[in-house]
Amino acid sequence: MVIFLEIHTQPSAAPVIQALRSIGYNAQTAIADIVDNSVDAKADYIDIEFEYDMGDGYIRIADNGIGMTEGELQKAMTIGSKDPRDKRAKEELGRFGMGLKTASFSMGKRLCVITKKDGVTSERCWDLDYVSDKNEWLLHKSVPNEVRNRVGQVEGNSGTIVFIDRLDRFCGYGSHKVLKQDSYYSKVRRIHKYLEMVFHVMLEKYLLITINGNALCPWNPFLEGNSRRIEGEEQILRVNKNIIRITPYVLPHPSTFNQVDYKYAGGVKGWRDQQGFYIYRENRMVSFGDWFGMFPKDVPSELVRIKIEFSNAADNDWKIDVKKSTIFIPDEIKEDLKAIAKYYRQISQEMMLYRTKTTRTGGKIKGTLNTWELATDNIDSAYLLNRTHPVLTDILKTVDNNVRRKINIYLKLIELGSPNNLLKSGNMVKKERQQVDGKSRKLIIDYAEILFSTDIELDAEKVAETISMMSGFEGIEIDTIKKVIEKEVNINEPNNP
Ligand SMILES: Nc1ncnc2c1ncn2[C@@H]1O[C@H](COP(=O)(O)OP(=O)(O)OP(=O)(O)O)[C@@H](O)[C@H]1O
Ligand SMILES: [Mg+2]
Repeated sequence: MVIFLEIHTQPSAAPVIQALRSIGYNAQTAIADIVDNSVDAKADYIDIEFEYDMGDGYIRIADNGIGMTEGELQKAMTIGSKDPRDKRAKEELGRFGMGLKTASFSMGKRLCVITKKDGVTSERCWDLDYVSDKNEWLLHKSVPNEVRNRVGQVEGNSGTIVFIDRLDRFCGYGSHKVLKQDSYYSKVRRIHKYLEMVFHVMLEKYLLITINGNALCPWNPFLEGNSRRIEGEEQILRVNKNIIRITPYVLPHPSTFNQVDYKYAGGVKGWRDQQGFYIYRENRMVSFGDWFGMFPKDVPSELVRIKIEFSNAADNDWKIDVKKSTIFIPDEIKEDLKAIAKYYRQISQEMMLYRTKTTRTGGKIKGTLNTWELATDNIDSAYLLNRTHPVLTDILKTVDNNVRRKINIYLKLIELGSPNNLLKSGNMVKKERQQVDGKSRKLIIDYAEILFSTDIELDAEKVAETISMMSGFEGIEIDTIKKVIEKEVNINEPNNP
């Protein structure tokens, strides 16, 4: 006989509250998490107010979203109001049923919410001092009279006001270390900039957010509209059937900006620190300027910013946290991301190294000093090496025909090693065609001839293997390459003019 011994064990309210307050938000991620809720509620206007009042002020976030019924509000104020395992609506930013409470409590001790749906207003208030005193989860059904004026009313037919005061953690309310007014507003400015970055996609499309009356301007890390930036080819990877979109960008060389634009494009952390991956979940940036330990952040690579987009269905793969600010790159795509990043970092490095010379006077050099050029026609685009680069021209002048031919073949192989060809893992949706086209066939022949002309003892098998490992040929099977060699290359009489 099996006997179940269970005791219903209610968590103690006071210590749980303290723990919830300390899950690692900062002011920026906390405000962003509350804004997420307004975005989910289909708001297109969010008005945020920070009142200092010598540390006795408040934070008020008012939206014109769909609002909540009293039942919905009661549920929303419950800690863990939704099951994180549930499927969320397309584009929904929420996941854990925690953010409203945890983000608010990370800044202050009292959270009042007034919401209106179809003209009917409801309100609730958590007062953490009261919860701690009573050691019970007691939620007030109405907003305390002393703050009613400050909280205000929802204008229009629907919307929600989130009001947080007793800002002990935000600005030292009730302590001896109340934040000075200057520092308080510096903090507000940092939040302003942070929201301009993480919500830039929505701000560009439809959303208006104001902070103390100032409208936010979207800060686009990829300098949308700048014709000098290089936009790499979009790559699509899959993890557990979920699609991940990757769009690499190499931004223009610093010499192409005026001082103001250059500083602005540097973003909150500055050019060097802003390089890296920018990860978006449902159009909301959840991670920015980070190589996730794959590369150092060096100055020559600072032009690279790589956009990565995933959907909320993939939250588990990315281990998104309540704060929507910590994520982990799924192991399955790490190598692919590294290959993409490596390639674009190289372009940045070359641009940084060679372009610096263009700013010098003299102007004898015709054409461009870029090592890579983006060639586009109506159907396709590709990065081509600048074959008229003065350094290359100088080198080619000094060598004989045979060496020149070898260098040209080698350069062609470099070109073929574009990210399109670099990434051939099983994750790729775009598969390279397996048959060998005329160009690749010619390159196989040329390259095999060169390899056979060396002193190394080689057979068709070995040469095919070597070529198959070279970037540009990954899509072609060894056997196919071998057949081309056997058919077209005279193995016994190496071509060595
Ligand atoms: N401004 C708002 N307008 C309308 N409904 C809201 C608003 N803020 C919160 N809600 C409702 O309250 C619920 C709880 O919000 P909360 O932020 O705590 O959790 P969540 O958004 O579901 O998930 P997460 O913890 O990932 O943020 C939301 O799912 C939403 O239904
Ligand atoms: Mg939320």
